[in-house]
Formats: sequence, C-alpha cells, structure tokens
Amino acid sequence: MTLDERLSAIFTAKLDRAVIFLGPPGSGKGTQAKELAKTYGIPHLSTGDMLREHVSLGTPLGRLAKPLMEHGELVPDSVVLRMVAERIERPDCFHGFVFDGFPRTVTQAKYLGELLKQHGLKQPFVIFMVIGTSVLMKRMTGRRICQLCGEIYNIYDRPPKIDGICDNDGGELTHRPDDREEVVGPRLHAYEKQTAPLVTYYRRLGFLHDIDARKSVEEVKQDILQSVASIRGER
Ligand code: AP5
Repeated sequence: MTLDERLSAIFTAKLDRAVIFLGPPGSGKGTQAKELAKTYGIPHLSTGDMLREHVSLGTPLGRLAKPLMEHGELVPDSVVLRMVAERIERPDCFHGFVFDGFPRTVTQAKYLGELLKQHGLKQPFVIFMVIGTSVLMKRMTGRRICQLCGEIYNIYDRPPKIDGICDNDGGELTHRPDDREEVVGPRLHAYEKQTAPLVTYYRRLGFLHDIDARKSVEEVKQDILQSVASIRGER
C-alpha cells in the first residue's frame, strides 16, 4: 500500500473540527488548505477569497475592503467576523472546515473559539507554516491564479504548461493586485504586528503544529496530511 493509500484509508473518519492555516502571506496556506479540504471532503474557507469576491461584486463590504486590501492592511475584525459566522452556519460546515487566512488577530481567534464551542466542534488544529521572509517576495510576485478554478501557480517554481493559461481548464491566469512588490512589504508588516501574536496564543493552548513550509509543495502536503491524521480520536 502506498503512503497516499494508507492516508486515504485513515481519512474515512470525520474531522469534526476546524483546521486553521496560520503563516505569513505567501507561505503556501492557500495551496495546502485546498488540498487538505479536498482530502477530507470539507469546505476550504479563505477569508481573502471571500473578501475578493465582495470586491469584484462591488458590495458595500467589498467597497470598504478594497482600499485596505490594496494597501496591505487588514479589514476590520467586526466585518470579517460577521462574514465568517454566516459562512460556518451552512450545512456543509457541520463536520469541520479548513480556514485559510482566518483568524488573523487575537480578537478573531477568541471569537472563533466561542463559535466552535457553540457549533459543538472539537478544538481547532492549527498548522503553522514556518518560513523565513526572504523567499516570500518571490512567491508572491510570481503567483498567478486561474480566474475560473482558482488553481494557484508560480511563474518561477510552479509554472503552467502554457504561459498565462490554466492547465486544468484553459482559464486565464491573473496577478493579484496586492502581490505587487510595493504592497508585499506592508502585508508582511501587518502580519508581524497583528497576526504573528497568534503563534504564541495557539502554542500556549497546545493547538499549534509546526510545518516546514520551505520544502516542496508535495513534501509540505505529505507532512500536513500526516500531522492532521495523527489527531484522530483526540478531543
Ligand atoms: P489572503 O488572501 O488571506 O492572503 P495572505 O494571507 O496574504 O496569503 P496569500 O494568499 O498571499 O498566501 P498563501 O500563504 O495563501 O500562499 P499561496 O498558497 O497562495 O488575504 C488578502 C488580504 O485580505 C489581506 O491582506 C487582508 O487585507 C484581507 N484579509 C483576509 N483575511 C483577513 C482576516 N481574517 N482579517 C482581516 N483581513 C483579512 O502560495 C503563494 C505562492 O507560492 C504561489 O505562487 C504558490 O504556487 C507558491 N508556493 C506555495 N507553496 C510553495 C512551496 N512549498 N514551494 C514553492 N512555491 C510554493
């Protein structure tokens, strides 16, 4: 039996909890969160994607978020918390979900703790993507995303077969406005100031699991699958 087959046998159990991806911008949270959600058959909830959808639809929330995102700043807690609380009410979240980019402040984490209790879910499993800042600039400025399916590429390390075109569905690949070099600095600053304190917060609670995010996409994926599989049966 291959490692993938052994792991998929383990995954027949329900997760019944939130898995949280914590790490700096560009550390690979989205790439890995999608994979993990697919493996367990649970939703991938990216607050960044939700906000970008509001921006593209021009909703009042989107109009509020747009300038903040363009400058690499966080959107206010109250707005994000309302959006998340509504999303996890939906039935597809009853057996757990994967958060990517949430929580991002200690206030958000505390509120999430209460929400999880109310929904009868187990303690969250927090994956901390450990990586130095030196590689993040290349990862962000090189990132390209499929407009149709959301597949994430990198022109340096994970290029599509045809330049600018998604391998999966031929969709156009786009560059996120906040991946411009001048916005990456403020995003890293916001992470250090507002999000990095969550590392201590979750480590103290015993929920944090370090993953070496410098490895290849496939190696990181295997490390995460093994780490999450180890929690079966825990409360
Ligand atoms: P969001 O969309 O959450 O962005 P982020 O946290 O800055 O993270 P990224 O999406 O940039 O990176 P990632 O870690 O997902 O990396 P990825 O897998 O794509 O947030 C955007 C904005 O929305 C925020 O700035 C804020 O304004 C707002 N916002 C969102 N949530 C909020 C909240 N909770 N509260 C307040 N405001 C909020 O990978 C990056 C690149 O690297 C890709 O090209 C990929 O192919 C490549 N790559 C990935 N893994 C590897 C690897 N192992 N080796 C080599 N290359 C790799």
